[in-house]
Amino acid sequence: MKIFIDSANVEQIKEVASWGILDGVTTNPTLVAKEKTEFKSLIHQICDIVDGPISVEAVSLTADEIINEARSLAALHRNIVIKIPMTEEGLKATKKLSDEGIKVNMTLVFSPAQALFAAKAGAKYISPFVGRLDDVGHSGMELVGQILDILDNYDLESEVIVASVRHPGHVIEAAMMGAHIATVPYDVLKKMFRHPLTDVGIERFLKDWEKVSGR
Ligand code: E4P
Repeated sequence: MKIFIDSANVEQIKEVASWGILDGVTTNPTLVAKEKTEFKSLIHQICDIVDGPISVEAVSLTADEIINEARSLAALHRNIVIKIPMTEEGLKATKKLSDEGIKVNMTLVFSPAQALFAAKAGAKYISPFVGRLDDVGHSGMELVGQILDILDNYDLESEVIVASVRHPGHVIEAAMMGAHIATVPYDVLKKMFRHPLTDVGIERFLKDWEKVSGR
């Protein structure tokens, strides 16, 4: 399973990259707006840290405008993936860009029907937002299962990025289901390697070791 960080913060990305388990990055307009750095320079900095897919979102609304914006974003770095929201115009742009060899991450996906169309349009990645679905009383992980089944039934090549992750349980469920990728916020990533029994175990080993080293 590939792990991406869902962040545009250079310090967070650097720290997680240093753990050796980071495969890519997803950003969105909200995450970019939290940073002080100029947009293109920020994207270049992120691309210098992680040698993997870096999703950057197009904010245009018509197919032609999305295509133009995507082409100029894709020219920034070979690892850039264009995030396009799932709309009729976004779908048209996804088909055209995918045919040109520009990788698309179809975002804001909340139903299996949207995912099926994204895959047929050639999206390299499909991002179901599990946390936002859970927030309104639906099951985000059920959607992930449905999308994986659909892709599998027809050997569709898109990869599922489990997005809008709120806690480590989302990541583990995604891994058990065989989702290709989870994009995980920094605070959730930090929680993933912590366990109280590990801390207690280290404390006990160190205490016992003091007896050995005193000999
Ligand atoms: C995905 O690529 C999005 O950036 C992200 O997961 C959105 O998550 P949120 O619901 O926490 O904003």
